[in-house]
Amino acid sequence: MMRHTLVRRAAPQMLLAAAMFVGMLSLAAGCRTTPTPGEEDIVEHFKYGVLGTEETVGVPYWIFRVLPIVFADKLPNRPGTGWEKLGFIQESPDRGPIGTTRASGSFGVELAGLNCATCHVGTVRETPSSPRQIVLGMPAHGMDLQGYSRFLTAVAQDPRFTASNLIDAIEKINPDFGFLQSLSYRFVAVRRTRSGILDQAQRTAWFDARPPQGPGRVDTFNPYKALFGFDMSKDDTVGTADLPSLWNQRPRRNLWLHWDGNNDLVEERNKSAAIGAGATPESLDVAALGRIEEWILDLKPPAYPPARIDQARAARGGAVYAGACASCHAIGAPQIGQVTPLEQIGTDPERLRSFSAELATRMNTLGEGYPWKFSHFRKTEGYANMPLDGLWLRAPYLHNGSVPTLRALLFPETRPAEFYRAYDVYDWADVGFVSSGADAQREGVRFDTREKGNANTGHTYGQELPADQREDLLEYLKTL
Ligand code: HEC
Ligand code: HEC
Repeated sequence: MMRHTLVRRAAPQMLLAAAMFVGMLSLAAGCRTTPTPGEEDIVEHFKYGVLGTEETVGVPYWIFRVLPIVFADKLPNRPGTGWEKLGFIQESPDRGPIGTTRASGSFGVELAGLNCATCHVGTVRETPSSPRQIVLGMPAHGMDLQGYSRFLTAVAQDPRFTASNLIDAIEKINPDFGFLQSLSYRFVAVRRTRSGILDQAQRTAWFDARPPQGPGRVDTFNPYKALFGFDMSKDDTVGTADLPSLWNQRPRRNLWLHWDGNNDLVEERNKSAAIGAGATPESLDVAALGRIEEWILDLKPPAYPPARIDQARAARGGAVYAGACASCHAIGAPQIGQVTPLEQIGTDPERLRSFSAELATRMNTLGEGYPWKFSHFRKTEGYANMPLDGLWLRAPYLHNGSVPTLRALLFPETRPAEFYRAYDVYDWADVGFVSSGADAQREGVRFDTREKGNANTGHTYGQELPADQREDLLEYLKTL
């Protein structure tokens, strides 16, 4: 079976999403990517384009489409319908959500995989009754990847996961579902999807020893350890990280980034992300990724609505920023893209602990035999000083997403012990998303800073300043 070869040669390369998705390996034999890079619009490509994740993490496309219909009762009680309840963004009812792909596979079974947009596209609403704006490159703050993984496991264990139930549901939404295709599904696809999901569930058993990741966050590097065969029973680190933005990669070249500053080559960060989303060195479509890589070099965040900025205050805040913050956060500043030691920054240590020296060594073996083989991973002792572009849409803040708003960051006495994440109505007063009150509670997901890995401590910069200077600074931060 092809599974065998892949596991031997490539299992270490599959990470979080791989760990969450399904190994449809035999079906994926001969899986080819469509369309050819260059043929479609770059925005369409970013949102739905195939990067080569399908071989390891693909779910047969039509099964993927009907799972939330057949197993609606297993979805969390969040707003929207179907996949939206797990935080996927659905643009049209006639296709998969943003961040999911559709590639041809063998036996006529198309596969749905993931791409960068799963985790790097978000939404925002001006008020509860405003239309939802979709922002490319923004952290997918509503996306619950772990919830998705758990949903798949639950449905695969459910007695209703049968070929007849799934095919009946498929024929309802796709009257053109052909006879030959239904044979492939009946005799191969459904059974293999089920066993693939159940296999993957064993590889994510380490999830259960850790607090829930919740929406907008994933454990970046522990899945790599599991797949490299590290003994997870001896590892108690919680690597859960808040999803970052993808804007303006050009000025990020040569900066030490990822939250702990473990890699200074932007192309390597991109490739490790694609591998993280399920591609293997063999399956990775370097040209398709190259287009995205090129495009995110200069992708811009949307500006904070100018009418909502007090310009005089923001100008005063600019001076405060220059004195208290710019040395670490401004492009071109000496400390930008460098690591501030943990003792000094004082934020939660878990994400840093999760990336070990041993793992750095193993990461640098990925891509053996390819011109792009990794070589830039290193172990650090702190968190990276990163650019703050598009900051207003990057809430909640810090590497673990433990501080809901910029006001809470600057006025520590207002940092809440618990709050709600994933509600996308904007909080214009505190600068972040609305994170408390009845609406946030109903539509969001509770976040508890007392759980391991979730501490909201540290990053005390600016707190010594008088309150009015911090108000000025808050105004200025809107303009970044
Ligand atoms: C499953 C979710 C997920 C997917 C899919 C994903 N990423 Fe990410 N990405 C993350 C997380 C989480 C981080 C933060 C990693 C850390 O440091 O812990 C990140 C970080 C990054 C960074 C570094 C950001 C910084 O400034 O430190 C880049 C660049 C990036 N991703 C690009 C991509 C690209 C390109 C793709 C598609 C090939 C992609 N990502 C797909 C979750 C994802
Ligand atoms: C000594 C360097 C340093 C200084 C000075 C500094 N920061 Fe930071 N900042 C960091 C580091 C490191 C992180 C990441 C910490 C983490 O997430 O654990 C960070 C994170 C942040 C974040 C979160 C970004 C995100 O995407 O979640 C914001 C916002 C921020 N800083 C604002 C400021 C402001 C405002 C000031 C000035 C009052 C400031 N910083 C001063 C080093 C610094």
